[in-house]
Amino acid sequence: MITAVCPGSFDPVTLGHVDIITRAASIFDKVYVAVLVNPKKSPLFDEQERVELLKRSTAHLDNVEIESFNGLLADFVEMKKSRIIVKGLRAVSDFEYEFQMALANRKLSPNIETVFLTTSADNMFLSSSVVKQIAGFGGDISGFVPPEVCERIYERLGPKD
Ligand code: COA
Repeated sequence: MITAVCPGSFDPVTLGHVDIITRAASIFDKVYVAVLVNPKKSPLFDEQERVELLKRSTAHLDNVEIESFNGLLADFVEMKKSRIIVKGLRAVSDFEYEFQMALANRKLSPNIETVFLTTSADNMFLSSSVVKQIAGFGGDISGFVPPEVCERIYERLGPKD
């Protein structure tokens, strides 16, 4: 059985993330989605909420499990007895950061390989911050996030008038 880990901060999950998770689930036997802490970010949703939103957004995928973890990604991958990290790659701007992370994770755990899936053209521009910014100004985010996430963001950031 080949397992993979899809890591991220998922604050909140977008349709771009769901696309990558869905495609990973069609390649690997089991996919663990890990909600991790990026110390550089102050999240809008707490860990539990992010896990819950991911669970709802991926409920149609039976080989996907969502968990949060307060530690190093490399340790989570080992704990799950996996050796594959799956990440979405949107544009050249993602490359340098992702390359650094992939090398760091391999240095921490030489068995680990990072596999990049190219983001669908529709999601090239999408990020969790873009979604929060548009919602914050009352814009329509229904094309960027799953419906259950859409509702929750408006609740948190104020109603759309
Ligand atoms: N489609 C659309 N958007 C996408 C996307 C896709 N396929 N993939 C990523 N994004 C967006 C995210 O929404 C996020 O947007 P934001 O910056 O506006 O919030 C951005 O791209 C980065 O996403 P993500 O991959 O979640 O990176 P991150 O920096 O938020 O999280 C961790 C990176 C959590 C995986 C990393 O910090 C980590 O591994 N932390 C654990 C500690 C650790 O091991 N550190 C050492 C690692 S070497």
